[in-house]
Amino acid sequence: MARLFLLLLFSLLHSSVTGLRRSDFPPSFLFGAGSSSYQIEGAYLEDNKGLSNWDVFTHIKGASKGNIDDGSNGDMATDHYHRYKDDIEMMHSIGLTSYKFSLSWSRILPKGRFGGINQAGIKFYNNLINGLLEKGIQPLVTINHYDIPEELQERYNSWLNPEIQEDFTYFAELCFKMFGDRVKHWVTFNEPNLLAKLEYFIGGFPPNRCSEPNGKCDYGNSSTEPYIAAHNMILAHAKTNNIYRKNYKSKQGGSVGITIHMRWYEPLRNITEDHLAVSRALSFEAPWFLDPLFFGDYPHQMRQILGPNLPKFTAGEEKLLKNQIDFIGVNHYQTFYVKDCIYSLCDIDPYTSEALVSESTERNGIPIGKLTQDANTYVVPSSMEKLVMYLKERYNNIPLYITENGGLLGYAQIPNISTTVEEIINDTERINYIRDYLTYLSFAIRKGADVRGYFVWSLMDSFEWISGYTIKYGLFHVNFKSLKRTPKLSAKWYNKFIKGYEQIEIASEESLEHMVS
Ligand SMILES: *[C@@H]1O[C@H](CO)[C@@H](O)[C@H](O)[C@H]1NC(C)=O
Ligand SMILES: *[C@@H]1O[C@H](CO)[C@@H](O)[C@H](O)[C@H]1NC(C)=O
Ligand SMILES: *[C@@H]1O[C@H](CO)[C@@H](O)[C@H](O)[C@H]1NC(C)=O
Ligand SMILES: *[C@@H]1O[C@H](CO)[C@@H](O)[C@H](O)[C@H]1NC(C)=O
Repeated sequence: MARLFLLLLFSLLHSSVTGLRRSDFPPSFLFGAGSSSYQIEGAYLEDNKGLSNWDVFTHIKGASKGNIDDGSNGDMATDHYHRYKDDIEMMHSIGLTSYKFSLSWSRILPKGRFGGINQAGIKFYNNLINGLLEKGIQPLVTINHYDIPEELQERYNSWLNPEIQEDFTYFAELCFKMFGDRVKHWVTFNEPNLLAKLEYFIGGFPPNRCSEPNGKCDYGNSSTEPYIAAHNMILAHAKTNNIYRKNYKSKQGGSVGITIHMRWYEPLRNITEDHLAVSRALSFEAPWFLDPLFFGDYPHQMRQILGPNLPKFTAGEEKLLKNQIDFIGVNHYQTFYVKDCIYSLCDIDPYTSEALVSESTERNGIPIGKLTQDANTYVVPSSMEKLVMYLKERYNNIPLYITENGGLLGYAQIPNISTTVEEIINDTERINYIRDYLTYLSFAIRKGADVRGYFVWSLMDSFEWISGYTIKYGLFHVNFKSLKRTPKLSAKWYNKFIKGYEQIEIASEESLEHMVS
Protein backbone atom coordinates (compact mmCIF):
# COMPACT_ATOMS: atom_id res chain seq x y z
CA MET A 1 0.00 0.00 0.00
CA ALA A 2 2.75 2.43 1.02
CA ARG A 3 4.59 1.38 -2.11
CA LEU A 4 1.61 2.05 -4.28
CA PHE A 5 1.18 5.44 -2.69
CA LEU A 6 4.81 6.32 -3.32
CA LEU A 7 4.48 5.19 -6.91
CA LEU A 8 1.41 7.32 -7.33
CA LEU A 9 3.10 10.30 -5.73
CA PHE A 10 6.12 9.75 -7.91
CA SER A 11 4.10 9.72 -11.11
CA LEU A 12 2.12 12.76 -10.01
CA LEU A 13 5.28 14.73 -9.30
CA HIS A 14 6.82 13.37 -12.43
CA SER A 15 3.99 14.54 -14.61
CA SER A 16 4.06 18.00 -13.10
CA VAL A 17 7.77 18.26 -13.80
CA THR A 18 7.74 16.99 -17.35
CA GLY A 19 5.48 19.75 -18.56
CA LEU A 20 7.67 22.79 -17.95
CA ARG A 21 6.87 25.34 -20.61
CA ARG A 22 7.39 29.00 -21.31
CA SER A 23 3.66 29.40 -20.74
CA ASP A 24 4.05 28.40 -17.07
CA PHE A 25 5.36 31.95 -16.63
CA PRO A 26 3.46 35.19 -17.21
CA PRO A 27 3.83 36.67 -20.73
CA SER A 28 5.70 39.71 -19.37
CA PHE A 29 8.12 37.51 -17.39
CA LEU A 30 11.76 38.45 -18.08
CA PHE A 31 14.18 35.70 -19.05
CA GLY A 32 17.73 36.92 -18.91
CA ALA A 33 21.32 36.33 -17.98
CA GLY A 34 23.70 38.36 -15.85
CA SER A 35 27.15 39.88 -15.70
CA SER A 36 28.99 42.54 -13.73
CA SER A 37 31.30 45.31 -14.83
CA TYR A 38 34.60 44.17 -13.33
CA GLN A 39 34.05 40.59 -14.39
CA ILE A 40 33.65 41.29 -18.11
CA GLU A 41 34.51 44.83 -19.22
CA GLY A 42 38.32 44.91 -19.17
CA ALA A 43 39.68 48.24 -20.52
CA TYR A 44 40.66 48.97 -16.97
CA LEU A 45 42.72 52.06 -17.75
CA GLU A 46 41.05 53.24 -20.92
CA ASP A 47 39.19 56.45 -21.67
CA ASN A 48 39.95 58.08 -18.31
CA LYS A 49 38.55 55.32 -16.14
CA GLY A 50 39.73 55.59 -12.52
CA LEU A 51 41.15 52.64 -10.60
CA SER A 52 38.66 50.49 -8.72
CA ASN A 53 39.35 48.59 -5.51
CA TRP A 54 39.47 45.37 -7.60
CA ASP A 55 41.99 46.83 -10.07
CA VAL A 56 44.26 47.50 -7.12
CA PHE A 57 43.53 44.29 -5.22
CA THR A 58 44.21 41.98 -8.19
CA HIS A 59 47.53 43.70 -8.87
CA ILE A 60 48.88 43.18 -5.37
CA LYS A 61 51.08 40.12 -5.60
CA GLY A 62 51.47 38.31 -2.31
CA ALA A 63 54.24 35.92 -1.28
CA SER A 64 53.20 33.28 -3.81
CA LYS A 65 50.53 34.06 -6.35
CA GLY A 66 48.74 37.02 -4.85
CA ASN A 67 45.08 37.44 -4.05
CA ILE A 68 43.59 35.54 -6.99
CA ASP A 69 43.75 31.74 -7.43
CA ASP A 70 45.36 31.82 -10.86
CA GLY A 71 47.21 35.11 -10.34
CA SER A 72 44.98 36.75 -12.95
CA ASN A 73 43.03 40.03 -13.01
CA GLY A 74 40.23 41.80 -14.87
CA ASP A 75 42.49 44.10 -16.94
CA MET A 76 41.16 42.51 -20.11
CA ALA A 77 38.49 40.08 -18.82
CA THR A 78 36.16 39.32 -21.78
CA ASP A 79 36.92 42.71 -23.37
CA HIS A 80 33.21 43.49 -23.29
CA TYR A 81 34.01 47.24 -23.29
CA HIS A 82 35.09 46.87 -26.92
CA ARG A 83 32.85 43.96 -27.89
CA TYR A 84 29.53 45.04 -26.40
CA LYS A 85 27.87 45.26 -29.81
CA ASP A 86 28.72 41.63 -30.57
CA ASP A 87 27.64 40.68 -27.07
CA ILE A 88 24.22 42.28 -27.59
CA GLU A 89 23.94 40.29 -30.84
CA MET A 90 24.86 37.19 -28.87
CA MET A 91 22.14 37.83 -26.28
CA HIS A 92 19.64 38.44 -29.04
CA SER A 93 20.68 35.22 -30.76
CA ILE A 94 19.46 33.20 -27.77
CA GLY A 95 16.26 35.18 -27.27
CA LEU A 96 17.04 36.92 -23.97
CA THR A 97 14.35 39.44 -23.05
CA SER A 98 16.46 41.05 -20.33
CA TYR A 99 20.09 41.54 -19.36
CA LYS A 100 21.38 42.19 -15.86
CA PHE A 101 24.63 44.17 -15.81
CA SER A 102 26.36 46.59 -13.46
CA LEU A 103 27.91 50.02 -13.86
CA SER A 104 31.58 50.53 -13.16
CA TRP A 105 31.53 53.35 -10.62
CA SER A 106 35.14 54.33 -11.33
CA ARG A 107 34.49 54.43 -15.08
CA ILE A 108 31.75 57.02 -14.54
CA LEU A 109 33.22 58.82 -11.51
CA PRO A 110 36.97 58.04 -11.49
CA LYS A 111 37.38 59.58 -8.03
CA GLY A 112 33.88 59.30 -6.64
CA ARG A 113 32.33 62.66 -5.86
CA PHE A 114 35.83 64.12 -5.40
CA GLY A 115 36.46 64.56 -9.13
CA GLY A 116 34.65 65.11 -12.39
CA ILE A 117 32.25 63.01 -14.42
CA ASN A 118 33.93 60.88 -17.09
CA GLN A 119 31.86 61.47 -20.23
CA ALA A 120 33.43 58.45 -21.97
CA GLY A 121 31.97 56.23 -19.26
CA ILE A 122 28.51 57.79 -19.67
CA LYS A 123 28.78 57.30 -23.43
CA PHE A 124 29.72 53.63 -23.11
CA TYR A 125 26.67 52.83 -20.97
CA ASN A 126 24.41 54.94 -23.19
CA ASN A 127 25.54 52.90 -26.19
CA LEU A 128 25.06 49.64 -24.31
CA ILE A 129 21.56 50.56 -23.09
CA ASN A 130 20.48 51.85 -26.52
CA GLY A 131 21.83 48.75 -28.22
CA LEU A 132 19.94 46.48 -25.84
CA LEU A 133 16.67 48.35 -26.29
CA GLU A 134 17.01 48.21 -30.08
CA LYS A 135 16.99 44.42 -29.76
CA GLY A 136 14.06 44.41 -27.35
CA ILE A 137 16.25 43.47 -24.37
CA GLN A 138 15.25 45.17 -21.10
CA PRO A 139 18.25 46.41 -19.12
CA LEU A 140 18.19 45.51 -15.41
CA VAL A 141 20.91 47.77 -14.09
CA THR A 142 22.85 47.15 -10.89
CA ILE A 143 24.34 50.38 -9.60
CA ASN A 144 26.98 48.61 -7.52
CA HIS A 145 28.27 45.07 -7.93
CA TYR A 146 31.36 44.93 -5.66
CA ASP A 147 33.72 47.33 -7.46
CA ILE A 148 34.10 50.88 -6.07
CA PRO A 149 36.53 53.70 -6.84
CA GLU A 150 39.80 53.00 -5.00
CA GLU A 151 39.71 56.68 -4.03
CA LEU A 152 36.90 55.98 -1.55
CA GLN A 153 38.86 53.18 0.07
CA GLU A 154 41.98 55.28 0.50
CA ARG A 155 40.24 58.50 1.47
CA TYR A 156 37.93 57.21 4.21
CA ASN A 157 37.82 53.37 4.40
CA SER A 158 34.81 52.96 2.09
CA TRP A 159 31.91 51.02 3.66
CA LEU A 160 33.12 51.49 7.23
CA ASN A 161 32.54 55.23 6.99
CA PRO A 162 29.04 56.81 6.84
CA GLU A 163 30.49 59.23 4.28
CA ILE A 164 30.07 56.53 1.67
CA GLN A 165 26.30 57.03 1.84
CA GLU A 166 26.85 60.45 0.29
CA ASP A 167 29.12 59.10 -2.40
CA PHE A 168 26.70 56.33 -3.25
CA THR A 169 23.64 58.56 -3.51
CA TYR A 170 25.64 61.04 -5.59
CA PHE A 171 26.58 58.28 -8.02
CA ALA A 172 23.09 56.75 -8.08
CA GLU A 173 21.40 60.08 -8.75
CA LEU A 174 23.80 60.74 -11.63
CA CYS A 175 22.80 57.35 -13.09
CA PHE A 176 19.08 58.21 -12.79
CA LYS A 177 19.75 61.52 -14.58
CA MET A 178 21.83 59.99 -17.35
CA PHE A 179 20.12 56.64 -17.98
CA GLY A 180 16.79 56.72 -16.15
CA ASP A 181 14.77 57.79 -19.18
CA ARG A 182 15.44 54.27 -20.57
CA VAL A 183 16.23 52.07 -17.57
CA LYS A 184 13.11 50.82 -15.77
CA HIS A 185 14.70 48.32 -13.37
CA TRP A 186 17.32 49.56 -10.95
CA VAL A 187 19.13 47.41 -8.40
CA THR A 188 21.09 49.47 -5.89
CA PHE A 189 23.35 46.69 -4.62
CA ASN A 190 24.20 43.19 -5.73
CA GLU A 191 24.52 40.83 -2.75
CA PRO A 192 25.50 43.45 -0.16
CA ASN A 193 24.95 40.79 2.53
CA LEU A 194 27.52 38.48 0.96
CA LEU A 195 29.83 41.40 0.25
CA ALA A 196 29.84 42.56 3.89
CA LYS A 197 30.86 39.02 4.87
CA LEU A 198 33.55 38.58 2.23
CA GLU A 199 35.05 41.99 2.87
CA TYR A 200 34.79 42.19 6.67
CA PHE A 201 33.78 38.87 8.27
CA ILE A 202 35.69 36.06 6.52
CA GLY A 203 37.99 38.26 4.44
CA GLY A 204 39.24 37.41 0.98
CA PHE A 205 37.67 40.34 -0.90
CA PRO A 206 39.17 43.83 -0.74
CA PRO A 207 39.80 45.49 1.68
CA ASN A 208 40.29 42.00 3.14
CA ARG A 209 39.54 42.76 6.78
CA CYS A 210 38.55 40.20 9.42
CA SER A 211 39.70 38.76 12.73
CA GLU A 212 40.35 35.27 14.15
CA PRO A 213 38.83 32.73 14.17
CA ASN A 214 36.84 33.70 11.07
CA GLY A 215 39.80 34.24 8.81
CA LYS A 216 43.34 35.50 8.55
CA CYS A 217 43.60 39.20 7.75
CA ASP A 218 46.12 41.88 8.67
CA TYR A 219 43.40 44.23 9.97
CA GLY A 220 39.77 44.16 10.93
CA ASN A 221 37.21 42.99 13.45
CA SER A 222 34.72 40.33 12.37
CA SER A 223 32.49 41.03 15.37
CA THR A 224 31.72 44.60 14.44
CA GLU A 225 32.82 45.66 10.95
CA PRO A 226 30.43 43.54 8.81
CA TYR A 227 27.49 45.15 10.62
CA ILE A 228 28.87 48.67 10.27
CA ALA A 229 29.44 48.15 6.53
CA ALA A 230 25.95 46.70 6.12
CA HIS A 231 24.43 49.60 8.09
CA ASN A 232 25.96 52.08 5.65
CA MET A 233 24.77 50.06 2.64
CA ILE A 234 21.22 49.84 3.99
CA LEU A 235 21.05 53.59 4.63
CA ALA A 236 22.62 54.26 1.23
CA HIS A 237 19.89 52.17 -0.42
CA ALA A 238 17.10 53.93 1.49
CA LYS A 239 18.41 57.40 0.69
CA THR A 240 18.85 56.49 -2.97
CA ASN A 241 15.34 55.15 -3.30
CA ASN A 242 14.02 58.20 -1.49
CA ILE A 243 15.71 60.43 -4.08
CA TYR A 244 14.31 58.31 -6.91
CA ARG A 245 10.77 58.42 -5.55
CA LYS A 246 10.87 62.17 -4.93
CA ASN A 247 12.57 63.38 -8.10
CA TYR A 248 12.52 60.71 -10.81
CA LYS A 249 9.87 58.05 -10.37
CA SER A 250 6.90 60.00 -11.68
CA LYS A 251 8.83 61.15 -14.76
CA GLN A 252 10.75 57.94 -15.47
CA GLY A 253 8.32 55.33 -14.20
CA GLY A 254 10.94 52.81 -13.09
CA SER A 255 11.38 50.80 -9.92
CA VAL A 256 14.23 50.35 -7.46
CA GLY A 257 15.13 47.11 -5.74
CA ILE A 258 18.03 45.41 -4.02
CA THR A 259 19.52 41.99 -4.76
CA ILE A 260 20.21 39.70 -1.82
CA HIS A 261 22.37 36.59 -1.74
CA MET A 262 20.22 33.82 -0.32
CA ARG A 263 21.07 30.27 0.55
CA TRP A 264 18.32 27.92 1.62
CA TYR A 265 18.53 25.92 4.85
CA GLU A 266 16.92 22.68 6.01
CA PRO A 267 16.97 21.45 9.63
CA LEU A 268 19.54 18.69 10.15
CA ARG A 269 17.33 17.00 12.73
CA ASN A 270 13.55 17.21 12.95
CA ILE A 271 13.61 18.90 16.34
CA THR A 272 12.49 22.34 17.46
CA GLU A 273 16.05 23.47 18.11
CA ASP A 274 17.09 22.84 14.51
CA HIS A 275 13.95 24.45 13.12
CA LEU A 276 14.88 27.53 15.16
CA ALA A 277 18.43 27.23 13.81
CA VAL A 278 17.02 27.43 10.28
CA SER A 279 15.05 30.53 11.17
CA ARG A 280 18.17 32.16 12.68
CA ALA A 281 20.40 31.24 9.75
CA LEU A 282 17.85 32.72 7.34
CA SER A 283 17.45 35.89 9.44
CA PHE A 284 21.16 36.57 9.31
CA GLU A 285 21.01 36.48 5.50
CA ALA A 286 18.09 38.13 3.67
CA PRO A 287 16.17 39.77 6.58
CA TRP A 288 19.45 41.36 7.78
CA PHE A 289 19.03 43.75 4.84
CA LEU A 290 15.35 43.42 3.99
CA ASP A 291 13.76 43.81 7.44
CA PRO A 292 15.22 47.32 7.94
CA LEU A 293 14.05 48.34 4.45
CA PHE A 294 10.51 47.05 5.09
CA PHE A 295 9.96 47.41 8.82
CA GLY A 296 12.63 49.90 9.93
CA ASP A 297 14.86 47.63 12.02
CA TYR A 298 17.01 44.48 12.02
CA PRO A 299 15.47 41.08 12.85
CA HIS A 300 15.14 40.66 16.63
CA GLN A 301 17.16 37.42 16.49
CA MET A 302 20.15 39.42 15.25
CA ARG A 303 19.69 42.02 17.97
CA GLN A 304 19.49 39.28 20.61
CA ILE A 305 22.65 37.51 19.52
CA LEU A 306 24.80 40.46 18.47
CA GLY A 307 23.77 42.95 21.17
CA PRO A 308 25.73 46.19 21.00
CA ASN A 309 27.78 45.00 18.01
CA LEU A 310 24.72 45.58 15.82
CA PRO A 311 24.40 49.31 15.06
CA LYS A 312 21.16 51.10 15.91
CA PHE A 313 19.03 53.23 13.64
CA THR A 314 17.93 56.62 14.95
CA ALA A 315 14.20 57.34 15.08
CA GLY A 316 14.57 59.52 11.98
CA GLU A 317 16.39 56.76 10.11
CA GLU A 318 13.74 54.20 11.04
CA LYS A 319 11.12 56.40 9.48
CA LEU A 320 13.20 56.91 6.37
CA LEU A 321 13.88 53.18 6.03
CA LYS A 322 10.37 51.75 6.02
CA ASN A 323 8.98 50.55 2.66
CA GLN A 324 12.02 51.53 0.62
CA ILE A 325 11.95 48.59 -1.79
CA ASP A 326 9.90 48.17 -4.98
CA PHE A 327 11.17 44.63 -5.64
CA ILE A 328 13.54 42.06 -4.21
CA GLY A 329 16.24 40.46 -6.31
CA VAL A 330 17.41 37.05 -5.14
CA ASN A 331 20.68 35.35 -6.03
CA HIS A 332 20.40 31.68 -5.14
CA TYR A 333 22.99 28.90 -5.40
CA GLN A 334 23.28 26.72 -2.33
CA THR A 335 21.32 24.65 0.19
CA PHE A 336 22.67 23.41 3.52
CA TYR A 337 21.47 21.49 6.53
CA VAL A 338 21.86 23.47 9.73
CA LYS A 339 22.14 22.35 13.30
CA ASP A 340 21.52 24.32 16.46
CA CYS A 341 24.61 25.39 18.40
CA ILE A 342 22.95 27.06 21.39
CA TYR A 343 21.66 23.92 23.11
CA SER A 344 23.73 21.35 21.23
CA LEU A 345 27.48 20.93 20.98
CA CYS A 346 28.92 21.54 17.55
CA ASP A 347 31.90 22.76 15.60
CA ILE A 348 30.92 26.15 14.31
CA ASP A 349 31.72 27.04 10.69
CA PRO A 350 32.83 30.58 9.95
CA TYR A 351 30.09 31.41 7.44
CA THR A 352 27.09 30.75 9.67
CA SER A 353 28.75 30.98 13.10
CA GLU A 354 27.25 34.37 13.88
CA ALA A 355 23.76 32.81 13.86
CA LEU A 356 24.93 30.12 16.32
CA VAL A 357 24.34 27.27 13.93
CA SER A 358 26.61 24.87 12.08
CA GLU A 359 26.08 23.79 8.50
CA SER A 360 26.58 20.55 6.64
CA THR A 361 25.78 19.09 3.26
CA GLU A 362 24.79 15.59 4.31
CA ARG A 363 22.51 13.81 6.74
CA ASN A 364 23.34 10.26 7.85
CA GLY A 365 25.87 10.08 5.05
CA ILE A 366 23.34 11.05 2.37
CA PRO A 367 24.15 14.26 0.46
CA ILE A 368 21.49 16.98 0.37
CA GLY A 369 21.39 16.87 -3.43
CA LYS A 370 23.47 16.06 -6.43
CA LEU A 371 27.04 17.35 -6.11
CA THR A 372 28.24 19.92 -8.66
CA GLN A 373 31.85 20.53 -9.56
CA ASP A 374 32.05 22.96 -6.65
CA ALA A 375 32.61 20.87 -3.53
CA ASN A 376 30.17 22.97 -1.48
CA THR A 377 27.33 23.27 -3.96
CA TYR A 378 24.64 20.65 -4.39
CA VAL A 379 21.66 20.71 -6.72
CA VAL A 380 18.46 21.09 -4.67
CA PRO A 381 15.86 22.61 -7.01
CA SER A 382 13.00 22.41 -4.48
CA SER A 383 14.77 25.14 -2.47
CA MET A 384 13.78 27.60 -5.18
CA GLU A 385 10.09 27.21 -4.39
CA LYS A 386 10.68 27.26 -0.63
CA LEU A 387 12.74 30.43 -0.55
CA VAL A 388 10.32 32.27 -2.82
CA MET A 389 7.42 31.26 -0.55
CA TYR A 390 9.42 32.38 2.51
CA LEU A 391 9.98 35.84 1.01
CA LYS A 392 6.37 36.01 -0.18
CA GLU A 393 5.07 35.42 3.35
CA ARG A 394 7.53 37.66 5.13
CA TYR A 395 7.35 40.62 2.74
CA ASN A 396 3.72 40.70 1.73
CA ASN A 397 4.16 39.20 -1.74
CA ILE A 398 6.38 41.99 -3.02
CA PRO A 399 7.53 41.50 -6.65
CA LEU A 400 10.58 39.23 -6.91
CA TYR A 401 13.21 38.63 -9.54
CA ILE A 402 15.61 35.69 -9.41
CA THR A 403 18.58 37.81 -10.37
CA GLU A 404 21.16 34.99 -10.28
CA ASN A 405 20.95 31.22 -10.32
CA GLY A 406 23.42 28.75 -11.74
CA GLY A 407 26.36 26.59 -10.92
CA LEU A 408 29.42 24.77 -12.11
CA LEU A 409 27.36 22.30 -14.07
CA GLY A 410 28.51 19.93 -16.79
CA TYR A 411 31.63 18.26 -15.56
CA ALA A 412 34.20 20.48 -17.26
CA GLN A 413 33.34 23.82 -15.77
CA ILE A 414 36.48 23.64 -13.65
CA PRO A 415 38.80 22.73 -16.51
CA ASN A 416 42.19 21.10 -16.19
CA ILE A 417 45.02 20.76 -18.65
CA SER A 418 43.34 17.90 -20.53
CA THR A 419 39.80 19.34 -20.69
CA THR A 420 38.61 19.96 -24.23
CA VAL A 421 36.43 22.85 -25.39
CA GLU A 422 33.89 20.26 -26.58
CA GLU A 423 33.54 19.00 -23.02
CA ILE A 424 33.01 22.52 -21.68
CA ILE A 425 30.42 23.29 -24.31
CA ASN A 426 28.58 20.01 -23.75
CA ASP A 427 26.98 21.20 -20.49
CA THR A 428 23.91 18.99 -20.39
CA GLU A 429 24.01 19.13 -16.59
CA ARG A 430 23.46 22.88 -16.67
CA ILE A 431 20.37 22.31 -18.81
CA ASN A 432 18.94 19.90 -16.23
CA TYR A 433 19.79 22.37 -13.53
CA ILE A 434 18.12 25.40 -15.10
CA ARG A 435 15.07 23.35 -16.07
CA ASP A 436 14.65 21.92 -12.57
CA TYR A 437 15.07 25.26 -10.78
CA LEU A 438 12.66 26.91 -13.22
CA THR A 439 10.19 24.12 -12.59
CA TYR A 440 10.12 24.81 -8.87
CA LEU A 441 9.97 28.52 -9.54
CA SER A 442 6.85 27.89 -11.62
CA PHE A 443 5.33 25.99 -8.66
CA ALA A 444 5.79 29.09 -6.47
CA ILE A 445 4.18 31.25 -9.15
CA ARG A 446 1.26 28.84 -9.32
CA LYS A 447 0.88 29.32 -5.55
CA GLY A 448 0.54 33.05 -6.07
CA ALA A 449 4.10 34.38 -5.68
CA ASP A 450 4.64 37.56 -7.71
CA VAL A 451 7.85 36.51 -9.50
CA ARG A 452 8.66 38.59 -12.56
CA GLY A 453 11.97 37.42 -13.93
CA TYR A 454 14.77 34.85 -13.92
CA PHE A 455 18.43 35.47 -14.78
CA VAL A 456 21.00 32.76 -15.36
CA TRP A 457 24.40 33.44 -13.88
CA SER A 458 26.16 34.11 -16.12
CA LEU A 459 25.88 35.27 -19.72
CA MET A 460 29.44 34.15 -20.47
CA ASP A 461 32.46 32.73 -18.71
CA SER A 462 33.97 35.65 -16.78
CA PHE A 463 36.59 36.73 -14.29
CA GLU A 464 35.10 35.02 -11.22
CA TRP A 465 36.62 37.20 -8.46
CA ILE A 466 39.17 35.34 -6.34
CA SER A 467 38.74 32.22 -8.51
CA GLY A 468 40.04 34.18 -11.49
CA TYR A 469 39.42 32.33 -14.76
CA THR A 470 39.54 28.85 -13.21
CA ILE A 471 35.77 28.32 -13.10
CA LYS A 472 33.11 28.71 -15.77
CA TYR A 473 29.49 29.70 -15.16
CA GLY A 474 28.65 30.98 -18.62
CA LEU A 475 25.92 30.11 -21.09
CA PHE A 476 28.64 31.10 -23.57
CA HIS A 477 32.16 29.73 -23.47
CA VAL A 478 34.90 32.34 -23.80
CA ASN A 479 38.34 31.48 -25.10
CA PHE A 480 40.42 33.90 -23.04
CA LYS A 481 43.21 34.00 -25.62
CA SER A 482 41.18 34.73 -28.76
CA LEU A 483 38.20 36.09 -26.74
CA LYS A 484 35.92 34.16 -29.08
CA ARG A 485 32.48 33.35 -27.61
CA THR A 486 30.78 30.03 -28.34
CA PRO A 487 27.30 29.06 -27.19
CA LYS A 488 27.20 26.06 -24.86
CA LEU A 489 24.37 23.53 -25.22
CA SER A 490 22.64 25.27 -22.32
CA ALA A 491 22.47 28.53 -24.30
CA LYS A 492 20.78 26.69 -27.15
CA TRP A 493 18.34 25.01 -24.79
CA TYR A 494 17.53 28.32 -23.06
CA ASN A 495 16.80 29.90 -26.43
CA LYS A 496 14.35 27.13 -27.32
CA PHE A 497 12.71 27.30 -23.93
CA ILE A 498 12.29 31.10 -24.04
CA LYS A 499 10.85 30.94 -27.53
CA GLY A 500 8.50 28.24 -26.32
CA TYR A 501 8.76 25.96 -29.33
CA GLU A 502 9.82 22.78 -27.67
CA GLN A 503 8.15 20.69 -25.04
CA ILE A 504 10.80 20.47 -22.35
CA GLU A 505 11.40 17.00 -21.06
CA ILE A 506 11.97 15.41 -17.65
CA ALA A 507 13.83 16.71 -14.71
CA SER A 508 16.71 14.52 -13.58
CA GLU A 509 15.87 11.44 -11.50
CA GLU A 510 18.01 12.71 -8.65
CA SER A 511 15.89 15.79 -8.25
CA LEU A 512 12.74 13.69 -8.25
CA GLU A 513 14.11 11.44 -5.55
CA HIS A 514 14.87 14.52 -3.57
CA MET A 515 11.33 15.80 -3.94
CA VAL A 516 9.85 12.59 -2.63
CA SER A 517 11.93 12.53 0.57
C1 LIG B 1 36.20 43.96 18.13
O1 LIG B 1 35.43 45.01 18.67
C2 LIG B 1 34.77 44.66 19.89
C3 LIG B 1 33.84 45.80 20.27
O2 LIG B 1 34.51 47.02 20.23
C4 LIG B 1 35.82 44.38 20.94
O3 LIG B 1 35.21 43.98 22.15
C5 LIG B 1 36.72 43.26 20.45
O4 LIG B 1 37.78 43.04 21.35
C6 LIG B 1 37.30 43.57 19.08
N1 LIG B 1 37.97 42.41 18.55
C7 LIG B 1 39.15 42.49 17.95
C8 LIG B 1 39.72 41.20 17.43
O5 LIG B 1 39.75 43.53 17.80
C1 LIG C 1 8.83 16.14 12.05
O1 LIG C 1 8.24 15.86 13.28
C2 LIG C 1 6.85 16.15 13.36
C3 LIG C 1 6.35 15.88 14.77
O2 LIG C 1 7.25 16.29 15.71
C4 LIG C 1 6.11 15.33 12.35
O3 LIG C 1 4.75 15.69 12.35
C5 LIG C 1 6.70 15.55 10.97
O4 LIG C 1 6.07 14.68 10.03
C6 LIG C 1 8.18 15.30 10.95
N1 LIG C 1 8.73 15.67 9.66
C7 LIG C 1 9.58 14.89 8.99
C8 LIG C 1 10.04 15.41 7.67
O5 LIG C 1 9.97 13.81 9.41
C1 LIG D 1 40.25 16.71 -16.12
O1 LIG D 1 38.88 17.05 -16.37
C2 LIG D 1 38.18 16.04 -17.06
C3 LIG D 1 36.81 16.59 -17.37
O2 LIG D 1 36.95 17.64 -18.23
C4 LIG D 1 38.12 14.77 -16.21
O3 LIG D 1 37.43 13.76 -16.90
C5 LIG D 1 39.54 14.33 -15.87
O4 LIG D 1 39.47 13.27 -14.94
C6 LIG D 1 40.33 15.47 -15.24
N1 LIG D 1 41.71 15.07 -15.10
C7 LIG D 1 42.42 15.32 -14.00
C8 LIG D 1 43.85 14.89 -14.02
O5 LIG D 1 41.93 15.86 -13.01
C1 LIG E 1 27.81 15.19 -24.12
O1 LIG E 1 27.35 14.71 -22.87
C2 LIG E 1 26.49 13.59 -22.96
C3 LIG E 1 25.93 13.27 -21.59
O2 LIG E 1 26.70 13.78 -20.56
C4 LIG E 1 27.25 12.45 -23.57
O3 LIG E 1 26.39 11.33 -23.72
C5 LIG E 1 27.81 12.86 -24.92
O4 LIG E 1 28.63 11.83 -25.44
C6 LIG E 1 28.64 14.14 -24.81
N1 LIG E 1 29.06 14.60 -26.11
C7 LIG E 1 30.29 15.05 -26.36
C8 LIG E 1 30.55 15.53 -27.76
O5 LIG E 1 31.17 15.10 -25.51
